[in-house]
Amino acid sequence: MLSNLFRKIVDLTPKLSLHIWKLFYEITARLYKKQIDWKFMNYGFAEPQNPPTNDYGALCGNLYHHLFNKTDITGKRVLEIGCGRGGGCELVLQYNPKAVTGLDYSENVIKFCKQAYKQGDITFVTGNAENLPFADESFDIIVNAESSHCYGNRELFFKEVARTLKPGGYFLYADFMGSIHYPKRPLQLTHCGLKVITQQDITANVLLSMDQSVTYKDALIKKVALKPLRKAIGDFAGVPGSDIYNKFKNGHTIYFSMLCQKA
Ligand SMILES: C[S@@+](CC[C@H](N)C(=O)[O-])C[C@H]1O[C@@H](n2cnc3c(N)ncnc32)[C@H](O)[C@@H]1O
Repeated sequence: MLSNLFRKIVDLTPKLSLHIWKLFYEITARLYKKQIDWKFMNYGFAEPQNPPTNDYGALCGNLYHHLFNKTDITGKRVLEIGCGRGGGCELVLQYNPKAVTGLDYSENVIKFCKQAYKQGDITFVTGNAENLPFADESFDIIVNAESSHCYGNRELFFKEVARTLKPGGYFLYADFMGSIHYPKRPLQLTHCGLKVITQQDITANVLLSMDQSVTYKDALIKKVALKPLRKAIGDFAGVPGSDIYNKFKNGHTIYFSMLCQKA
C-alpha cells in the first residue's frame, strides 16, 4: 500500500522522480550503514537448471554475472552507474578489468562503498546518471543494473553513456519497465548513439530469484525493520505477492537485459 503509493507518485511526476528516489536511497543507506554484508539492492536472477538457493547475495550477484558474461572485461576500464552498495563493482574484479569506478547519486551509499571496498583498482564517486562527471570516451564498458527506472530523463542518461564510452565500447544494461513501452526502448537507445546487439526478456529468471530469496528477505526484514514498516519494506523488496512481483507475473512489467555498443 505505502510502496504502491510511492511508486504511483514517482510514475506521475518523472521530473520529481530523481529527487524522490534519491531521498529514499539516502535514508535507506543511512539507516543500514552498519549492515556490511548487505551489498546488493536488486531482485536477483536465477536459472531453473541450477540448484535452488536462498542466498540473496548470490542471487543478486547472478544478475551481474549474467551481464558480465555478455562481453570480455579483461583489461577494460569499467564504470557502473547506480552502483548502490557496491556488490557489482566488487564482483567485476573477478573478471580482471583494468580499473573499476562505481557511481551513485546517493552520498550515503558512496560513503558505505568507500569504507567497504579497498581491494583492486576500485573508485567510488557521487554523481548523477544524467550528467556524468567524466570526460568524453573515458570507459570501455558501462554497467547499469536495476537503476534507470529511477531516472527523471532516461534519454539524457543514454546520451551520457554514449558520450563517456570509447568508440566501440559496450553498455551492459538490465532493468524493468512497463511491457507496453518496452518495444520502444531499443529505438530510444539507437537514437542516443547506442546500438542494441542483443536483448533478452529475463522476467522468469527474476521471478524465480524472488521466489527463492523469500525466506532470507522475510527473516532480514523481521530483524531490521519495525513491525509497522515490514509490509512496505517487503513490497519494495519484491517478496511474492507484492505489487511488483504480481506485475512481473501477469506480464504488466518486463525485466530485460541488453548488450549495446557505442555506434
Ligand atoms: C535498486 S538500486 C540498485 C543498486 C545496484 N545496481 C544493485 O543492483 O545492487 C538503484 C540504485 O540507483 C541509484 N540511482 C538512482 N537514480 C540515480 C541517478 N540519477 N544517478 C545515479 N544513481 C542513481 C540509487 O541511489 C540506487 O543506489
